[in-house]
Amino acid sequence: MCGIFGIVTKQETNLGPTLIEAGKMLSYRGYDSVGCATINAAGEIDLRKDAGKVDAVAEQYNFAEMSGQRGILQLRWATFGAPSKVNSQPHLDSDGDLVGAHNGNVVNNAELRKQFMAEGMTVRSENDGESCIHAVERYVNKGFGMVDAIRKAYEDLKGDYAFVIGRQDEDVLYAIKKGSGLVAGIIEDGTVVSSDLPSLLPLTRQILRIEDGEIAILRADGIELRSVADGSVIEREVELVKETMEAAQKGNYPHFMLKEIHEQPVVAGELLNLLDNSEEVDAIVARIKAADNIYLAGCGTSYHACLLASVYFSRLAGRATIPVLATQFIAQYGPAVGPGDVGMFVSQSGETKDVLNAIESAEAKGMGVLGLVNVVGSTLMRVSEHHIPLGCGYEISVPATKTFTNQMIAFLYLALRMGGHDTDILHDLPELMRKTIAASDPQAAELADSLVGVQDFYQLGYGMTYPMALEGALKLKEITYLHCEGMLSTEFKHGPLSAVEEGYPVVYITGREDVDLIVSGINEATCRGGWAIVVGPEDARLRANGHEFMILPETPTPEIEALLTVIPLQLLSYHLSLALGYDPDFPRNLSKTLTVD
Ligand code: AGP
Repeated sequence: MCGIFGIVTKQETNLGPTLIEAGKMLSYRGYDSVGCATINAAGEIDLRKDAGKVDAVAEQYNFAEMSGQRGILQLRWATFGAPSKVNSQPHLDSDGDLVGAHNGNVVNNAELRKQFMAEGMTVRSENDGESCIHAVERYVNKGFGMVDAIRKAYEDLKGDYAFVIGRQDEDVLYAIKKGSGLVAGIIEDGTVVSSDLPSLLPLTRQILRIEDGEIAILRADGIELRSVADGSVIEREVELVKETMEAAQKGNYPHFMLKEIHEQPVVAGELLNLLDNSEEVDAIVARIKAADNIYLAGCGTSYHACLLASVYFSRLAGRATIPVLATQFIAQYGPAVGPGDVGMFVSQSGETKDVLNAIESAEAKGMGVLGLVNVVGSTLMRVSEHHIPLGCGYEISVPATKTFTNQMIAFLYLALRMGGHDTDILHDLPELMRKTIAASDPQAAELADSLVGVQDFYQLGYGMTYPMALEGALKLKEITYLHCEGMLSTEFKHGPLSAVEEGYPVVYITGREDVDLIVSGINEATCRGGWAIVVGPEDARLRANGHEFMILPETPTPEIEALLTVIPLQLLSYHLSLALGYDPDFPRNLSKTLTVD
């Protein structure tokens, strides 16, 4: 998730410190490159940018000294083009009189770049932010004024994005919103715009919210909103925002966990765009295909993604893989692995010591190391021969949610590609995730209230939902402090069934292929007084046998259905944690990144 910030002031001033501060405020979103552009009163553009962290790049290029009457800052999280100076933003147009930066994904970037080059424009990078600038340049060159050129560009740029752009010979900035976040504000001596509200709060409480399909023209004395559809002026009052910084960071959700659950459809869509355009996918698929043995290793939630991945590779690519807890990897397989083997190491943080230990032992035996990791610049990312970034932005809440779903999606994508299947089947996934969240959130809240008082229970799944049962139980234990065990449903009768008595809750998680088997499991428990809570597809057999239901939307494939089952389980844990009076974001005794043995 990139971040953009723009400022317009009455007079030329030293904008550097404000731009650096905005960069720090936006850095929670995750990024790998930083850049600033200022335009002085004479229209001269000063552009400084590079790959790296805000502090380091700002110091190296002395952002602090940058002055102007207009300024733009951008933090880039690499999607199109590697993290590098040339791919960093802001970007200039061909002759250097337009400058701007974007946030989001322009999905027809490759096609647009070819068009721009064929039209004689100077395309310097692979980055889709540059395409936003050339898309405007194209129409400025044809004689359109800025607002109309932006309106035309909006039609050409496909995807979800927001961008800020300025022209040398004017004294305004334009900010455009289509899908990605964008908020403007009035400051004492000018106006500002940013990807999010928290980064504006240190500067102002007078906020103007920009909607999709709108262009905000930022002037030193105010903001004018125009409609992309017909160019007409939109009237909107400036609001006086009262929320605290923390509330603003949570985007008005009561907890980061709930916010991150709701972000899942957006980050899933961004990951799919990234994978569609990544050369790493082919490299990883080739490496896995050529390997003697493939190990999938991680800890906690990341290990559960490995378990599901193993089923995906088997079902979709006919390839056996070995999922293993990272710490157990050394003891169980360390002596047996060799240079023909490959390990795919999975970690949200990329810094989990148990995972890094496993990598060290794999490297010592000459194994190939691949990574699936969220935090850009982390150790796992650096030591991997090839890696896929999960593209989730920062996950602040200790319980992993959006990074888990993106881990599963990345694996599903790889398995489809390995098996020669079309990955377009995944493109409805964000919408299916949205529907699942909307349907299961109120159900989970109600169910959580009725579970207060329960001390322990089971979550059972089979096949592809077995890892989901483990994950659902882990999430629940992590933030409710109750005992909950995730198991293979067929193993329940081999022992734990003895715990079932009147009112004893058992959560059954099923995909459409396993309904008969799960129904038989449900009956094992209900005939002994058990209370059956079902997560699965709409099915008369489940309805006839279970007691409580969290029903999934119709899905195109069983593999997609399986990964959706975790969403109701995340929500159930969240609401039960609240019902018990805990803070789900920061459970006791735990930390987000475990850098110790
Ligand atoms: C999940 O909710 C946990 N916080 C935990 O199990 C986590 O997944 C595990 O510690 C691994 O972390 P990583 O993905 O950063 O390596």
